Amino acid sequence: MESDFLVIGSGIAGLSYALKCAELGTVVVVTKKKDVDTATNLAQGGIAAVLEKDDSVESHVQDTMVSGAGLCDESVVRMVVESGPERIKELVALGVSFVHDKMSSSGYSLGREGGHSCRRVAHAYDLTGREIERALLEKVRCHDKIRLVEEHMVVDLLMVKGGIPGWSNSRQQRKCVGAYVMEGGRVEPYLAKVTAVCSGGVGKVYLYTTNPDIATGDGVAMAFRAGAEVSNMEFVQFHPTCLYHPEEKNFLISEAVRGEGGVLIGADSVPFMERYDPRKDLATRDTVARAIDKELKETGEDCVFLDISHRDSGYLKKRFPTIYEKCLSRGIDITKDPIPVVPAAHYMCGGIKTDKNGRTTIAGLIALGETACTGLHGGNRLASNSLLEAVVFADRASHYCRELWPELKGKKIEKVDNWKSGNATELSEEIIVNHNWDSIRRIMWNYVGIVRSMQRLGLAKKRMEAIYQEVDQHYRDYYITPNMVELRNISLIALLIIQSAMKRKESRGLHYLIDYPEKKKSAEQTVFRRKGAENTWEIEVMEGQGNG
Ligand code: SIN
Repeated sequence: MESDFLVIGSGIAGLSYALKCAELGTVVVVTKKKDVDTATNLAQGGIAAVLEKDDSVESHVQDTMVSGAGLCDESVVRMVVESGPERIKELVALGVSFVHDKMSSSGYSLGREGGHSCRRVAHAYDLTGREIERALLEKVRCHDKIRLVEEHMVVDLLMVKGGIPGWSNSRQQRKCVGAYVMEGGRVEPYLAKVTAVCSGGVGKVYLYTTNPDIATGDGVAMAFRAGAEVSNMEFVQFHPTCLYHPEEKNFLISEAVRGEGGVLIGADSVPFMERYDPRKDLATRDTVARAIDKELKETGEDCVFLDISHRDSGYLKKRFPTIYEKCLSRGIDITKDPIPVVPAAHYMCGGIKTDKNGRTTIAGLIALGETACTGLHGGNRLASNSLLEAVVFADRASHYCRELWPELKGKKIEKVDNWKSGNATELSEEIIVNHNWDSIRRIMWNYVGIVRSMQRLGLAKKRMEAIYQEVDQHYRDYYITPNMVELRNISLIALLIIQSAMKRKESRGLHYLIDYPEKKKSAEQTVFRRKGAENTWEIEVMEGQGNG
């Protein structure tokens, strides 16, 4: 398989970028499950942008920076916020239908979420992600320059000697020319002039997550193995309100519910957020998730409750149709009953380090969406800034590809070796893989959660190092399967999160370490770099905000 552009992942970042690159050349989009199995498709809240007359770029910038706890790159924040309205217009032109409100100056009905000082979230009720995914997929599926390949799993990136002029490649003389892709038992090289990893987040590293099953950190893991710098992995965002029900493991109760007046209460029906933050239920996510964690530990209860039953029932059914139906199917009528909720892993603020054009530190490799660490989110992502980041960086990266195109267009892609299985044999017992999956997710949930301690992190590190070695050995000894490839990725991601959490000796944003409860005066970024062989790396703490 050979194309001009290879895109790994079919969420908002991958599809937006694919549509723009298809104006230049041929595009292959690879996704490991069905095209709609993405975090985008599950996004409820919406996309934040300055759309109303009484809102301002300055205000959105400030809200993002405050939420980011001193680690955002201000120039990136400004660039993203300024591009927001244009990108929303583009989505509308592509067929995305946001909810309208004739009375507002923007013409849109705008939602409010935690950390935002005004209403600025364009939405499609609580189905925003699904609406965006629908519109983008409709365009991609009928585009004659784009081939969408489902049920194909990327195993690793393809690297050759060389570089791309102007693409900083200071630490290595290698560039990315595509990826090894597995279908059934076969692994084939997919060659491309530029490869973009847009494969979503890492939520499945935790026992409880709002993420879909695809969120196994594949993009970050394979880019890291290929030599890309990876940054700020300790900043895992826990969404405060995931539905607490034995039959529902990952159903999100959107922050927009609190934006429309929902109040967090304990089992005693008493609101508690006013004891933690003057912004109460609309404080930033790090604060709200930590407050819930504290309430649960102190009371010994299994969950807290989110109560919006004071709002008109007709309004609730219209504004939150998915949440209303899902809760009702589990015997909870949100128009009358408080909703049982707990925090769950939701979003990785760190990831593959990129510049303002989505370029990683490897020539030929772009990273977009949750997979990337662009400098926008800092230590805690502001609600509904993620879909915005995805479309803005997809646009920036496609512009960069356009600039590069005269140089790349006529170039032949270097040939690479076919995949070799060596002396691998068939794995006869799946239990070896499944047991490690379960162990990793429990270790991470119990030892590397919302509130951390050096002792628990140390225990987690010891256990994860042993699991990582074992999984790596299995990967070499047996024919690979999708389950094994994901386990290999998730075990590496777990180790990177633990190591960077131990390295950051302070509490900031989403990273709260009881041994170091204060925020340091200076801002620091944790950066991983591979050292020589695949399984050795170093972690460095770099002073400064953003990606420099
Ligand atoms: C939500 O609807 O609460 C999720 C939105 C987000 O993660 O930004």
